[in-house]
Amino acid sequence: MSGAKKKLALTRRFPKAVEERAERDYDAQLNPDDRPLGPDGLVELSKSVDGLLIAPTDKIDAALLARLDPRCKMIATFSVGIDHLDVEAARARGITMSNTPDVLTDATAEIAMLLMLGAARRAHEGQTMLRADAWKGWTPTQLLGAQLTGRRLGIIGMGRIGQAVAKRARAFDMVIHYSNRNRLPPEREQGAAFHADPEAMLSVCDVLSFHCPASPAMHRFLDARRIELLPQGAIVVNTARGMLIDDEALIAALLAGRVAAAGLDVFTNEPNLHPGYRPLINAFLLPHMGSATIEARNAMGFRALDNLDAFFAGKTPPHAL
Ligand code: DGY
Repeated sequence: MSGAKKKLALTRRFPKAVEERAERDYDAQLNPDDRPLGPDGLVELSKSVDGLLIAPTDKIDAALLARLDPRCKMIATFSVGIDHLDVEAARARGITMSNTPDVLTDATAEIAMLLMLGAARRAHEGQTMLRADAWKGWTPTQLLGAQLTGRRLGIIGMGRIGQAVAKRARAFDMVIHYSNRNRLPPEREQGAAFHADPEAMLSVCDVLSFHCPASPAMHRFLDARRIELLPQGAIVVNTARGMLIDDEALIAALLAGRVAAAGLDVFTNEPNLHPGYRPLINAFLLPHMGSATIEARNAMGFRALDNLDAFFAGKTPPHAL
């Protein structure tokens, strides 16, 4: 980039390599304490910067956009998910937004497999037994779980991450079903069974895994009525967004054993997950760490910076929304 460096604020603490590149190429303002700024902090920041590198914890809705200083013209989110952004409202105000697809696909697919295995094989119970010093030794009937081999995996949302999960699940000899807005071509489908209607797929989901965007149409998709459509003892996995699940309904189903186990990495109202999950021995829970590998988080930051660089060079960012 030529001329005076643009002013860029990073709203959270980002991986070192990402911050170093931001400082190299921009007049960068970091947030070394990782203090969430909140709406007022973001508005204040916008007065002195040309662009923002934000995180999924920064909610940029229409109300906030209306208060942002017109100086700030580009907002790059360090995420593939965009449910914290009002892209239309930003466009209307002449603000460009971008996200970071692709680079977290493998990391998220790995966490989905971890959740699937952890839920199916009762990993939380085993861990708790050991840490509470309650293990009395091996027995033939201890902590018997479900084997993934031959089980039917239903994937809702067969984009990049859904396909990466399907690939990994095939290595576990699972049978893949999926529901997606559009049917995939055969070379991508790889023999997976397509269901145009996600609800119609539920009856074959021994394991149900969410990989779709958090669209209003999918709000609390997995509710009490649809849980009844799952096979008895199904396993539910969510690495997408908490809003896809009706927490009260899933907690009731886990308590009743109607759903055998759940593996959840994302929650409604993070970090204040529904307290009903905490005591459940059949809930294997992680704190939204699907993309939390060094490789993925560096690549997400670099991709966000690529978007900012393109914008300030007068080009369309490669991942403009
Ligand atoms: C995303 O990118 O949307 C994840 O949820 C955070 O990595």
